[in-house]
Amino acid sequence: MAPRPVYFDCDTGVDDALALVYLMASPEVSLAGIGTVSGNIDARRAARNTLDLLALGGRGDVPVAVGAMDPLTHSFDGGVPHIHGHNGVGEVELPPAERTPEAESAADMLVRLAHEHPGELDVIAIGPLTNLAVALKQDPSIADLVHEVIIMGGAALVPGNLSAVGEANIYNDPEAAQVVMEAPWQVVLVPLDVTLENTFEESDRLALAASDSALNQALADILDLYFDFYVGEYDRRMCALHDPLAAAIATGQITATRAPNVPVVVDDTQGPGRGQTICDLRYQRNGPKDVEGAHVRVVLETDQPLGPVLLERLLGYTG
Ligand code: RIB
Ligand code: CA
Repeated sequence: MAPRPVYFDCDTGVDDALALVYLMASPEVSLAGIGTVSGNIDARRAARNTLDLLALGGRGDVPVAVGAMDPLTHSFDGGVPHIHGHNGVGEVELPPAERTPEAESAADMLVRLAHEHPGELDVIAIGPLTNLAVALKQDPSIADLVHEVIIMGGAALVPGNLSAVGEANIYNDPEAAQVVMEAPWQVVLVPLDVTLENTFEESDRLALAASDSALNQALADILDLYFDFYVGEYDRRMCALHDPLAAAIATGQITATRAPNVPVVVDDTQGPGRGQTICDLRYQRNGPKDVEGAHVRVVLETDQPLGPVLLERLLGYTG
């Protein structure tokens, strides 16, 4: 089968870096373009990190466009240096790429690619959804042109990670997330319910460090600080594979075994529920039931642990 064209939207970002390299290593998809957004780090720095990783992996051909610096209705809050480092990649100095970002914006790139690949383009979004919302406002017809939108974000039946109920990608721009959930395209939402259950251990990190690929060695270094942060969640050095899980569902390496199509609304009020993804999961006790007219598939279970699948693919990548 020909690889499916993908527009990849990211805030690179430690787990974004893992997802990026995973996609670079995946024959099922072809990276048609990458847009960046402010989230873990600002959109310009995210583009620089992305270009550096692409160059290190011998993929200087993939265009990278800078997207929204600020969420739709407020200013970017500066990111999360205690999780992803001040530079987004765990304070690791990557060899600087020679390339600079494209002249077009990330939203323009998405609109262009949707028209160039009608019915074929998959969108994988693993940061705040600002660029997708801007693109939809610019050209609502992209909702009919895009094949599927796979999003790492939200929390269906578990707590949030940035607030009691808000997951970071949604919480950082709830207004944009609501625009994206409302649009009449098929969304696959990969929430904390499943991403926190898929992890990398110190042994996985050490396997990357021992690889003879400079890219995998860099990933091992980048993961170091991230592992420290996750001691608070798992009581030992390891990490969640949020963004790589969305990428692996997009390639088809991981299958969603429970993922009902249900109405999803994002709370974009200023109250304590801000950023919550309210998934209507009523009447699902006896197995997944799709709700007629709904177009957001909420992933609640997957077929196998991602860790070994991801490690194998990263170690097999020769660039
Ligand atoms: O909540 C997890 C998400 O927030 C991931 O995309 C991670 O990169 C962070 O930005
Ligand atoms: Ca991310």
